[in-house]
Amino acid sequence: MSESIAITVVGSGYVGLVAATCFAEIGHRVLCVDNDEDKVNRLNQGEIPIHEEFLPELLGRHRSSGQVQFTTDLGRATHESQVIFIAVGTPQSQTGNADLSYVDAVASEIARSIHSYKVIVEKSTVPVYTNDWIRRTIERNGVSRSLFDVTSNPEFLREGTAVKDFLHPDRIVLGADSEKAARLLAAIYEPLTSGCYYERSDAVPGSRSAADLPPILQTSTKAAELIKHASNAFLAMKISFINVVANLCEAVDADVEHVAKGMGLDKRIGKRFLSAGIGYGGSCFPKDVAAFRYVAQQLGVDFRLLEEVEKINELQKERFFQKIRSALWTLRNKRLGVLGLSFKGGTDDIRESPALEIIQMLLDAGASICAHDPAAIERAKKELPPHACLQFTEDPYEAADNADALVVLTDWAEFTRLDLKRLRYTLRYPIVIDGRNLFDPWQMQELGFTYLCVGRSSQHTPVESPSAKCLP
Ligand code: UGA
Repeated sequence: MSESIAITVVGSGYVGLVAATCFAEIGHRVLCVDNDEDKVNRLNQGEIPIHEEFLPELLGRHRSSGQVQFTTDLGRATHESQVIFIAVGTPQSQTGNADLSYVDAVASEIARSIHSYKVIVEKSTVPVYTNDWIRRTIERNGVSRSLFDVTSNPEFLREGTAVKDFLHPDRIVLGADSEKAARLLAAIYEPLTSGCYYERSDAVPGSRSAADLPPILQTSTKAAELIKHASNAFLAMKISFINVVANLCEAVDADVEHVAKGMGLDKRIGKRFLSAGIGYGGSCFPKDVAAFRYVAQQLGVDFRLLEEVEKINELQKERFFQKIRSALWTLRNKRLGVLGLSFKGGTDDIRESPALEIIQMLLDAGASICAHDPAAIERAKKELPPHACLQFTEDPYEAADNADALVVLTDWAEFTRLDLKRLRYTLRYPIVIDGRNLFDPWQMQELGFTYLCVGRSSQHTPVESPSAKCLP
């Protein structure tokens, strides 16, 4: 039986809320602190602010047993916990670097309540050296060095699959410069690394099992900080890379899905994050690429590669907009159905969503839009300025109704299950412009659609045609 550890998680945003819930799920007692009193009240009443698989069940269970509690009182939480995870926002400042003022404020507040040994853990994505700053801040507030350690335990969860990613991780990175702190952190994850969690009948299912345990990687705090930024920047680079390859494919009439498959079969490259589209978005990649670039610049290291990654990402949205325009000749007074508002499928998050940027470009060009999304309509309504030519609908077929074309902007699995024949007759003209390559071009052609997508030939051959098949 693993030891139950008293944990505080500061911040109830994506990472904080999921981490707090999952720490309770693996047997720890968790206090989740947020300074937004209204949010804490709503969380205590069982309201869940984000759309995330498994979160409602797990939070419901652990909140009613008292295993996880929400509070605004960071002093009490610090006093009652052995380990304090900082999971507050690190937004992008105007220069591109991460704004660490929330982390700084939390560190000072924690310092005021330290009377026995505590391990403070950075969970937010932060630039290298943040660890040192937190340590200095706590020392400046008069806390003896022997009473605390500052460590780094980056989180790699993705929105939409956050609970699964947390409980079935590819790796657990523990950055600690003291053995004592490293041991305590390792003990927190012991239910996962020993496999005992996966043997429970009520465990959240996922890729890990008692026979395939997540590896733990112990590093210095600086290396752990770099691992997080470097991983996100690398994944963003992979996406920009395949997007340029997709543009090349369009120039020579080849299929980017075939090229990505051929590349991805090389184990050194790997097949994931090679889906061409309209560019990456979300609250992490754009901010983290900019912050990593800024860190390199500050340290005198030439990392202009990241500037190119960002530039390609911007151009990809513009290029897709031009594709819509050239399919329809002019956009003024054209009626477009739009599928997708969130920055990717499976989430209601619209932060830095390429879909919203493209919608704005279409509206500016005079098109009128009826947009559908399975989860993000309410958030998008608040984000997009009200516009006489912009409507929303809960029904994807209504979005397509009498439209001059249907534009797909988010990779929701729901869209791949739409009745294409019905769509074909709902649209005024059977034109689908798909920024996420959700449909089979061959099938779309057979159904009579003019189907434009990203990096795939206009003369469509089935994806599994002999030329692309892996023959034994
Ligand atoms: C990302 C990372 O994947 C997580 O590992 C990390 O923990 C998280 O940021 C974070 O730092 O908190 P997330 O922002 O949830 O997770 O989203 P991703 O699934 O990585 O997708 C990011 C963007 O890239 C989306 O707009 C998505 O549509 C796009 N994308 C992704 C592509 O265009 N092509 C792909 O092949 C993959």
